[in-house]
Amino acid sequence: MAPAIPPGEDGPMASQPDDPYEHPYPAPDLAARHPFVVLEPYRYPVDEMRARARAFHEAADRRRSVRMFSSEPVPRDLVETAVMAASTAPSGAHKQPWTFVAVSDPHLKSRIRAAAEEEEQKNYLENRMNAEWQEALAPLGTDHHKEYLDVAPWIVVLFEQRYELRPDGTTRRNYYVKESVGIAAGLFVAALHDMGLATLPHTPSPMAFLRTLLGRPANERPFVMFPVGHALDGAQVPDLRRKPLAEVFVEVTDDPVA
Ligand SMILES: Cc1cc2nc3c(=O)[nH]c(=O)nc-3n(C[C@H](O)[C@H](O)[C@H](O)COP(=O)(O)O)c2cc1C
Repeated sequence: MAPAIPPGEDGPMASQPDDPYEHPYPAPDLAARHPFVVLEPYRYPVDEMRARARAFHEAADRRRSVRMFSSEPVPRDLVETAVMAASTAPSGAHKQPWTFVAVSDPHLKSRIRAAAEEEEQKNYLENRMNAEWQEALAPLGTDHHKEYLDVAPWIVVLFEQRYELRPDGTTRRNYYVKESVGIAAGLFVAALHDMGLATLPHTPSPMAFLRTLLGRPANERPFVMFPVGHALDGAQVPDLRRKPLAEVFVEVTDDPVA
C-alpha cells in the first residue's frame, strides 16, 4: 500500500492540469482527521483494455453453477484465498458485513444436507413453492435431493451481519447489508471460478437452520451457501442462454422526463 501522504502540494489534492474539481476530495479538514493515501495507479492503453475486457468476459461466460461435484479434496488455503478476494468487495460505510463459514467435516456436512433436504422437501413436494416458481425452476431440473452437500469437499455458508456486534456486547448499524453481501458473494464465485473450482449458489429456503447448526451469533443471518469443489467428470448443466447485451444494457442519451 502507498504511504500516507499529508494533504498539500504533493498530496492527494495536488491539482493536475486536467483537474476538473472545484471541491477537492478529501477536503483539507477531513484529511487532517482521517488518513488518506494516494491511489496506486492502474491504467492500460485502450487496446489492452479491450483485450482484457474480452478475456474477462470469456472467462466469466465459462462459469456455470454445478450440481454434481467430485469428492476430490480441495486444500483449505484455496478457499481462504477466495474468501480474501470476496472480502475486497465494496460495502456500505466499509462495514464489510459478512462472515464466510467453511465446513469440511463430513458429519457436519451431512447434518447440513439433512436439514436442507427437509426444507426443500416442503418447497418441492409440499407446494411451499407456488406453481409459477416451480415452472421457473423446471428447466434447471432441481429437486429436493441435495447429495452434493455430502459429496463436495467444502460447504461455505455466507452470513450477512444484520448489525455489528462488538466484543463488549454493544451494537452498531450496518448499511446496505444485502447489496454489500451480494457483491461479496459475486466476487467469491468469480474467485473460485478463476482458480478452476466449481460452486453453486444454494438457498434451501428458509435457511435459519444454518445459524443454529453452525453456532453463529444472533446478528448473523444466512445469505447463500456454496458447495465448493471440482465438478464431477462429465457433469451436466442446463443448456441455458444468457441475455444478449441489448436486453441488459440501455444508454439514456436524453432527459427521459423532459
Ligand atoms: C441467489 C441465488 C440463489 C440460488 N439458489 C439456488 C438453489 O437453491 N438451488 C440451485 O440448484 N441453484 C440455485 N441458484 C443457481 C441458479 O439456478 C443459477 O445461477 C442459474 O440457473 C444460472 O445458471 P448458471 O449459474 O450456470 O449461469 C441460485 C442462484 C442465485 C444467484
